[in-house]
Amino acid sequence: MSIKINYHLLLCATPSKGSCCDYKDGQSSWNQLKKIISELNLDDPTRPEGVVLRSKVDCLRVCKNGPILLTWPDGIWYQKVSPKLIELIIKQHIVGGQPIADFIYQRTPLKALDNMS
Ligand code: FES
Repeated sequence: MSIKINYHLLLCATPSKGSCCDYKDGQSSWNQLKKIISELNLDDPTRPEGVVLRSKVDCLRVCKNGPILLTWPDGIWYQKVSPKLIELIIKQHIVGGQPIADFIYQRTPLKALDNMS
């Protein structure tokens, strides 16, 4: 049985080779992302909207102005995230549906693949 997925959040926080951010800033942002998702029960697989997944990735190939946060499936790339901004993104964008324009690096929404089957 598969779970319904609402969002998958990919954070380049502590890259092993890249240099988009300070290691401590990235680690504190990652810790905050995990904490807020848990506190708001967004990781509950029975949530009607679907679960919010999070993954710490090694590099998103932006490599500047990090930490970089990519939200799937709407394809919004945030730059210079911090623990405070992570909380705002989760509450205003992920829960509230309102992206925070001032921190968006670019938008790359997924295309429908209905004609690929
Ligand atoms: S090192 Fe973070 S995007 Fe490449």
